[in-house]
Amino acid sequence: MATRGEFSSKFGFVMAAAGSAVGLGNIWGFPTQVASNGGAAFVFVYLVLTFVLAYPVLMAELLVGRYAKSNSIDAYPKITNYKKSAFLGVWGTLTVSSILAFYSIVGGWLMAWALHYFTSLIGLTAIAAWLVEFSFERNILFTVLFSILTLLIVRQGVAAGIERWSVRLMPILLGLMSILIVYVGLQRGASEGWSVFIFPNFSRVFDIDLAISAMGQAFFSLSLGVGTMLIYGSYLSKSENMVSIGALVALVDVGVAILAGALIIPAMYVAQASGVDILDGAGNLISGDGLVFTVLPALFDNMRGLASLVPIGFFTLLLVAALTSSISMLEVPVSYITERKSGDRAKACYWVAGAILLASLIILLNFDALFGLVVSLTTEYSQPLLGLFICVIVGWFWNRNQLLEEIRLGNPEIEITLFWKIWPVYLQFVCPLIILLLFYHSFQS
Ligand code: PFF
Repeated sequence: MATRGEFSSKFGFVMAAAGSAVGLGNIWGFPTQVASNGGAAFVFVYLVLTFVLAYPVLMAELLVGRYAKSNSIDAYPKITNYKKSAFLGVWGTLTVSSILAFYSIVGGWLMAWALHYFTSLIGLTAIAAWLVEFSFERNILFTVLFSILTLLIVRQGVAAGIERWSVRLMPILLGLMSILIVYVGLQRGASEGWSVFIFPNFSRVFDIDLAISAMGQAFFSLSLGVGTMLIYGSYLSKSENMVSIGALVALVDVGVAILAGALIIPAMYVAQASGVDILDGAGNLISGDGLVFTVLPALFDNMRGLASLVPIGFFTLLLVAALTSSISMLEVPVSYITERKSGDRAKACYWVAGAILLASLIILLNFDALFGLVVSLTTEYSQPLLGLFICVIVGWFWNRNQLLEEIRLGNPEIEITLFWKIWPVYLQFVCPLIILLLFYHSFQS
């Protein structure tokens, strides 16, 4: 078997894991959910669920990965001594591959839009117009290009590919975002957006549908359940303090989501101040692709001079965020095939990326029927359910002494902390209960 890759530094790991977590879910999904779920009420519930539910599950995945030091399909049997528990890894791998299939399509759109603003800037108007037309040719071309970018990075391996690129791309992302927030914040109308974003409408805080959306968003945003965090954990050295590293990743993820909200919600009100419609027929803020491909471009169209660089910056920001996530998704099946079958990473990359591209093609050919369906099945149902199974397997089937020993590695003082005393029992009882209750209510309502 080929030797396993490993992250070369703690910083590299945090950038890669935060890079996986920070993606379209933060910069697009989160503001969209805030817009359609009563502003700051959603922010509040999302924050609570991230810390009481998603962070504990993240820790479980990271610990399983580092203990097993293997791909996600072989990892669960190692902690349970029960071969059939491999189903969890298989299910996660299928889910993450389906997520990557739609994510690459969206990644392609972002490339096309970034290029659109660039080509219009240099006067290539016909090309610029084609780039934002929703055609099958454009969609497939850019899905392929996005997949090639993902593949090229993953092919280089853990330290030389994933880590090196995450360390470069994540600071670019934060820099671009800060510049855009300041720019938008100074425009007319921004302050109204800020107040929608900051002051919760408390009547919506106990809305069960809102909580379900927030749970899905929290699992998607932290890349949970599907083996991504598990595999990144498996590339981490036994001398690292997992509890604090996991907390850091969760904090960066939440921080970027909040920053994205602070960029996009005010941007919508700036758009409104310049005459753009930001409410739908029912009087709610426009969300989803209408927000990213209609409302914001209408705002961008008013920008002249130096400001015309803003949309290029914005779509590049989204693209960078998507790329650091897509590489983490591709790594899940690639690591399995490399470790179990060929030993040849490059070959595994070509096969897996080819198969996922085929899935993207099928989605594109049946766009109306499949796109929304795949998004909702994978992110709203599969990810939280996988999270539920992980809590059960780690909480109930992993030998408690082995589990505690894994937490202690790299962090001997942990025994006096609350995490040590509470987390294992919490994961066993409370997390599954919250997930089950939320699901139960969602089927009732
Ligand atoms: N966390 C990513 C985002 O917020 O866009 C999405 C994601 C990445 C989901 C990796 C699942 C995954 F395995």
